[in-house]
Parts: sequence; structure tokens; C-alpha cells
Amino acid sequence: MSQRRAIQEIKARLSLVDVVRRYVELKRNGARWVAPCPFHQETKPSFSVNEEEGFFYCFGCHASGDLFDFYGRINGLDFRETLEALAEETGVVLDGYDDGPATAARRQGLSEKQQMLRLHDLAANHFASNLGGSAGEECRDYMRRRGLSEEIARSFGLGWSLRDWQSLTDVFRRAGFAPELGVKAALLSQNGRGRIYDRFRGRFMFPIRSLSGRVVAFGGRIIANEEDEAKYINSSDSPLYKKGEHLYGLYQARRAIAAGAPAMLTEGYMDVVTLHQFGYTGAVGVLGTALTPEQVKRLSGFTSTVELMFDGDRAGRKAALRSAEMLLVRGLRCRVVLFPEGEDIDSLLRGQGQEVFESLRASAPEGLAFCIRTLRDMAPRDAVDWARTFLKQVEQPELVSGYASALANGLGLAETELREQAVNARRLSSRPASVAQVSPVSRPRQTCDRELMTFAVRYPHALPRLRDLGAHLCLSAPWSRRLWEKLEKTPPEDVFHLLDEREKTFWVRCRTGNVPPLDNEEGEFAALRSMLDRMQLAGQKASVTAALRQGAGTGDFEMDLEYLRALQETLERTHGKQH
Ligand code: UTP
Ligand code: MN
Repeated sequence: MSQRRAIQEIKARLSLVDVVRRYVELKRNGARWVAPCPFHQETKPSFSVNEEEGFFYCFGCHASGDLFDFYGRINGLDFRETLEALAEETGVVLDGYDDGPATAARRQGLSEKQQMLRLHDLAANHFASNLGGSAGEECRDYMRRRGLSEEIARSFGLGWSLRDWQSLTDVFRRAGFAPELGVKAALLSQNGRGRIYDRFRGRFMFPIRSLSGRVVAFGGRIIANEEDEAKYINSSDSPLYKKGEHLYGLYQARRAIAAGAPAMLTEGYMDVVTLHQFGYTGAVGVLGTALTPEQVKRLSGFTSTVELMFDGDRAGRKAALRSAEMLLVRGLRCRVVLFPEGEDIDSLLRGQGQEVFESLRASAPEGLAFCIRTLRDMAPRDAVDWARTFLKQVEQPELVSGYASALANGLGLAETELREQAVNARRLSSRPASVAQVSPVSRPRQTCDRELMTFAVRYPHALPRLRDLGAHLCLSAPWSRRLWEKLEKTPPEDVFHLLDEREKTFWVRCRTGNVPPLDNEEGEFAALRSMLDRMQLAGQKASVTAALRQGAGTGDFEMDLEYLRALQETLERTHGKQH
């Protein structure tokens, strides 16, 4: 089938509406379907799908295209990968797709890939049924000891590989597959003498799914003290699976993330599963490697903010620094949650409880602030190198300026020098940083999250007015930023069911409870505005003072002067307010 025919055929078999619905909740609106856009953060449902034409369009960010554009963009695939994935999903055969000599090989490759997917399905079913059967008792016992529910085991398709050398090999044989294919799919192993045997034996099995939901690899954990055995064995690379391309749990988490659940990035299988069980359904895992650009790309299809969760030990901090860097240079925002040494998510949630976990989250520093704090402990030379390399990697030029100011400010470096480098690299204008850009490291200490969010919850339609005031920039606690995001992304009448327990409680308290009736929006707004004014001024004063202190040693007279003027203006306004 020619490529053009294949594209038509795929579109005939799979509707754009059905695919979009996997990621966002579509609502009927006349001839169109609408939803909040999955490609940018927003309040209103400006994303619309025209079913008849097979096109989507977002009135907010202007993303548009057809089935292939949507699928590729949301999954981080190029056109060819998209075509292959959709062909596979719809059963459209892509031969004749390239008339070169590689055609036969590719055709074989494709059908072989499909067979390997089937082997993975067989394996996943086999492992899951082992876990439910009598041979699975020791593994069920292990699950109980780790506090994993049957429900979570079902939703992640967890399983048990028997303590047997031939059990999966036999499953493949009985289903008519050559065991050699199982070796190629990295599910079976082969020794020097050619004997083929099960790769996973006596392990608690975690299936790894691709974004289209197919099992493409496994990880398996020992469940007892087994000397000389690796704690985890993972599928090696195969035609279906490349380490570093997938995130564990993303298939399960993506809908929740698209609907506003915080995206959490953690290190391993157990952490992901435990987080989901505790209701943090936006958790995904990097699986024993450093975070890769490929993984960031996939994640960024669903969210623009990520919470990083790492061990507080040296290795964990290093990994967190590296991961934050990867996210920030690609324009994602992040926060860094570090656990006390010796604890991980699982021990923390189960041992110390959810409140302790929540308080760690609530006090987690913003990504760049975390980087700065970590850099301060490094040799100055290394910190400067890090900052320069970091700025060079930043992908969106409009981010450079703010990052440079924050780094210079936080590290006590000459900002001009740092910025010059970035400017040279990008030919940006070389104006000194404006006062507003200096602020990220020196946020006002006083907070008004509660007052702001109370108003937002009481009058959700007034969010744009709050935004105009810059209210969202004054939110400092993660809980309030999360709630704000939900309110912005969802029409007021739908937001309630997206809230977690605490948010629901807050919501109900704001709208009922011991509060004035909901008939004085203007009065409440005015009170809030004057409170915000006071806070913003205090914050500006702090950051201008800090900037001035930094700038003092640079010998950049113009810059000092500009800050001085800004400071004076700020002080005058503060004074004016008090009278
Ligand atoms: P951890 O040692 O933190 O394991 O490794 P864990 O997932 O928290 O499991 P529990 O709580 O000890 O049962 C983190 C991740 O590193 C990879 C796995 O992906 C694991 O989930 N890893 C670890 C391996 O691939 N192989 C290993 O031998 C160990
Ligand atoms: Mn663990």
C-alpha cells in the first residue's frame, strides 16, 4: 500500500475524536467537540475537534492539524514513528511504503515487531495469572508485606514469574512461536550452548507499557534475600524497547496529568506504584537511568510542571540537579522534593504517613532555586561552568534573561558576564535585567495564598481579573499553585470532581462554612487587591535591594543607576500606601 493510501486507510479506521479522547475529556459543542487544550495550560476549553473534517484547532495556542499531527505531537514522535505506530494499531500494512531494496527487510521487521508485541502480551498474561494462582502465594505474601493492594496490582498488570527455567518458554512454544523470537524480544535468554530458557525466574514482574498501551518490556524484582542476584532485572534493548525512551507508568498517568494531577517524576517501579496507590496518579518513573531528552519530550506532551522526587543523599541530589537542568532548559517548570536520607517514597508514605510527605512537597524548592542552592556547595569555578553550560542549552530565548538574572543573583556572579555569554550565543538584546526579572530567588516572604485562593474558589469566573493583578505570581505554596492550575484549566462547573480530598474540603469551606455570603465580590476583590499591592511592593523592594547589592561590585554604573531608580520608586510607592 502506498504511503498515501496507508494514511487514508488509517484515518478511515481510526477517528481523531477517539484518539483525542484518550488524552482529554471531549464535550459536544454543536458540530464540534471541545476540551481544554492538551498542548498548553488554560482555563477555557479552546481546543476543538471537527469530527467530519478530521482536524483539530486550538484557539489559544493555535496548535492544529490532523490525526497524525495530534498523535505525533502528544506522544513526542516524528512523522515516520507516528505512521508506524498508527499502522500497527489499526492493522494497516505498510509495505510498498518504501520502494528501496530495504522493503523486504522492513516488511519482515514490522511483522516481527507485531509478533514480539504478542509475545509480550502472552508473557504479561502468564505472569499475572501466576500471581493469582497457587504458585503465586509467596509473591502475594510479599505484596502484602509491602502494602500493595490487589487493585493496584491489577491496574498495573503486576505479575509473578515462576521459579522455573522453562515456563514462559513453554507458553511461547504452545502458542506456536519459535523460542528464538522470545530471545530476540529479550524475554528469554540463550546460553553458550544454544539452550534457551526463561530470563525472569522467581521475580515480582512490572510490565512496562508504551504510550499506546502495549507491553514492550518488563522489570522483575527479587522478593527474598537472594545472594548474588541483582535486585531488579530489566528487559534489555529490543526492537520494541530502548532504555531511556519510556517512562514507567506514563501510560497510566497521562490522563490524570492532562486532567490536572501533578506530574511526579521518581526513580523506580515501587515508588510509582505506591504513589498511584496513595492517589498520586500523575506519578511516573525513570527506571534506573538518568533522565533522557527523549523522556522529557514525552512528558512535556502532557504537562508543563513536574515535581521531581529524589533521595536526599549525595547521589540523589546529583540526579535531581541533572534532572532539573534537563527540564528547565526545555522550558518546563519543576520543583524538587528530597527525602531525608535513608527514606524513599515508599518508606515515607507508609512509615511516616501522608502528612509528612505532603509537608515535604509543600516546602519543595522551585527547580532553579534548588539548582542554585546546590551550586553554592560546589567549587565556585564549577558553579560558573554549570551556569554557563546551562544557559547555552536553554531552548527558548525568552527564558534566558530570567534564568541569567536568577543565577547571577543567587551565585553572587556578575550578571552582565553571564548574560553576555547567553546573549552572544543567541543575539538577544543586551539591556540590563529589568527589576521584575530579578525576583525569582527573592520572592516576598509573606504569603497570601490562602486569601487569594479563597477568593478564587468563591468567584471562579473572576480568575482572569486575578491574573491581571498578577495574583498567580504571588502564590508560593505548591497546594495553592496546584489548585490555581486546576481552576484555570477547567470550567467552574466541572472543577469540583477534579479536586483531591483536601482541596474539596477547602472548596467547601470557602463557599459555605463560616463565611460571608457570596454577594460582595467587589468588596472582597478590593480588599484582596490592596493586600496584593502591599505584598508586591515589599517583594520588589527586597529584590531591588538584593540586585543592588549584587550589582555594586560589577562596576556597571548604568546598571546600578537603573536599580537605584527602581528602588527609589518602590520606596516612594510603599510610603504612599502607608499614608
Ligand atoms: P531502588 O533500589 O530504589 O528500588 O532502585 P525501588 O524501586 O525503590 O524498589 P524497592 O523499594 O527497594 O523494592 C530504583 C530503580 O532503579 C532500577 C529500578 O528501575 C528501580 O525501580 N534498578 C535498581 C535496576 O534496574 N536494577 C537494580 O538492581 C536496582
Ligand atoms: Mn524503594
